[in-house]
Amino acid sequence: MTRECVVNEDRARLAEIAAKLRIGGYQRHVFLCVGGTCCPSRVGEEAWEALKKELKDRGLTPGTDASAVYRTKVGCLRVCTDGPILLVYPEGTYYCHMTADRIPEFVQKHLIDGQPVEEWVFARNPLPASH
Ligand code: FES
Repeated sequence: MTRECVVNEDRARLAEIAAKLRIGGYQRHVFLCVGGTCCPSRVGEEAWEALKKELKDRGLTPGTDASAVYRTKVGCLRVCTDGPILLVYPEGTYYCHMTADRIPEFVQKHLIDGQPVEEWVFARNPLPASH
């Protein structure tokens, strides 16, 4: 088997995984740090569970809504204080102190209404449109 064949097999397998994850159909990507330096790991994990639940309850999951949100739990966003730190793309909005109790308001205001919760935002790095 040539290297090209292996790469093509990998590509086909990865494309299948991406299709199952519905990659390509998202409007936003939310990263939540549960790293243990910006906040205790338990606090980060509680926020992560709250985010998963809220996205599901609000129907912002793949295949259910045009405004589906891809979520990723990360180990560090390099801020390392005042966490859990949460980042939303493509807006590039950085949030601090995103404990579980704040997640429902964040989902409603930012992800559904399109209005960031300004009092929790501490930085912005919007990405240019890619299409
Ligand atoms: S550990 Fe959360 S930002 Fe670094």
